[in-house]
Amino acid sequence: MRLPKRQLAVLESASATDERTVEEIAAETGLKPATVTGAAFDLRDDGLVAVDERTAETLELTDEGRRYVDDGLPETRLYRAALDAGAVDEPVPMGAVIGRAELDGPEVDIALSNFPRKGFGAIDSGELTADPDADVDADPEAAVLAALAAGEDATTADDADLSAVADEATVGRLVDRGLVERASSTTRSITLTDDGVDALMTGVEAAETVSELTPELLASGEWRDVEFAAYNVEADAPAIEGGRKHVLRETADRVKDVLVGMGFQEMEGPHADSDFWINDCLFMPQDHPARTHWDRFALDVDPMEAIPDELIRRVEAAHRDGWGIDGDGYHSPWSEEFAREVALRGHTTSLSMRYLSGIAGAELEPPQRYFSVEKVYRNDTLDPTHLLEFFQIEGWVMAEDLSVRDLMGTFEEFYRQFGIEGIRFKPHYNPYTEPSFELFGEHPETGEEIEIGNSGIFREEVTGPLGVDCDVMAWGLALERLAMLTTGAEDIRDLHGTLADIEFLRNAEVTY
Ligand code: PHE
Repeated sequence: MRLPKRQLAVLESASATDERTVEEIAAETGLKPATVTGAAFDLRDDGLVAVDERTAETLELTDEGRRYVDDGLPETRLYRAALDAGAVDEPVPMGAVIGRAELDGPEVDIALSNFPRKGFGAIDSGELTADPDADVDADPEAAVLAALAAGEDATTADDADLSAVADEATVGRLVDRGLVERASSTTRSITLTDDGVDALMTGVEAAETVSELTPELLASGEWRDVEFAAYNVEADAPAIEGGRKHVLRETADRVKDVLVGMGFQEMEGPHADSDFWINDCLFMPQDHPARTHWDRFALDVDPMEAIPDELIRRVEAAHRDGWGIDGDGYHSPWSEEFAREVALRGHTTSLSMRYLSGIAGAELEPPQRYFSVEKVYRNDTLDPTHLLEFFQIEGWVMAEDLSVRDLMGTFEEFYRQFGIEGIRFKPHYNPYTEPSFELFGEHPETGEEIEIGNSGIFREEVTGPLGVDCDVMAWGLALERLAMLTTGAEDIRDLHGTLADIEFLRNAEVTY
């Protein structure tokens, strides 16, 4: 039998009676552990060795944990300082003890919360008393930290006798305190099978194997005689955690692909825009609550000059006196000054207005389809389903005759591309659309129906002043909510921001 050199080395180093770990074999053969693992899998596939895998949980000190091994836990330092300050006999002001313990920054709070928890003493009305019987040297948390540190310095894992000191509750508390991290490691052990023993007894020759074809091999013609190492695509390789596109950005890109595939063109325009484009064109009365400082991020900048005068007059007329045969308008005050004020857009429908008005240079001969996937800003209260900035999937379709069926069919087709079925529609009110619908989708984890968008067919009071004389259906969908449905995230803040779990960001898949 002929085997590649590294496989032969592993085979010869393995034993039929003792399990030997990859690391032991690596040390003996001088091969890298990853090479030994690869060779072992190849040998296993040929039935010559058995590979046993065991996954064990290991504990590792964090930087903060390591620091406390050297300096002492903050609560222990507080206790020692309290003894020095005479806090056994009578309560001593907290500030004095903290100063003496040389605690600073976050260590103060850490010390103050753990000191009473561990029964080192009591804190009452700003004064501290130390319990003379507390035995800080017997603190189980400190013992586990010390044992882990000893293990790091030790040459073999057995030198750190962790099992003697670590009970699960103590370890759990250290993990919660961020002093210890859990990790898991896989140990692979190799034993010779009967076939492996037979092969060795009959004799195995080393075949010269080549893992890479080089120019030298080609030039010399040697490639004809060598044996090439086979790829083993199933062998474990170290995980490389490089950068990747954020799951939300990936979802946005996917949304763009889907909409382009459905025949839409992309719109672009300013994040900071005049109230005219954000609200007035949308027949939003100037005293509408969404237009107050409660909801809107107003900007202290010059008013917007470049708005076509003719259009301002038409929009003003729609607000004051109405538009169309049945239009009655609001008969409420309307100020051009307010219309020119600049704010962060609360929706990207401002872009739809710019495009439908013709000033963005869009083609306006029906049928037309336009979209954007852009950021909007709202002065909302942060909660599991609301952010102050989020991405809106804006879109509109212009055609001679549109109905609610077209609107619903478009959404069903769009969401189906992400594997989302069973979208539900709820009648709604917008000043700018009639009829209007909110969209709901079922959350894959909680089963709850969450709002994913808002839509409708623009009123004549919107399309008329813009100079559009056919139907326009439009919508604003929340990208983050779509991502919640596709990733199963239950809190919008799991998707981005400080609460987002790095493992989730590394592994989240964009489904479609
Ligand atoms: N502007 C609406 C929102 O932000 C979405 C929408 C756009 C609704 C266009 C109808 C028509 O909720």
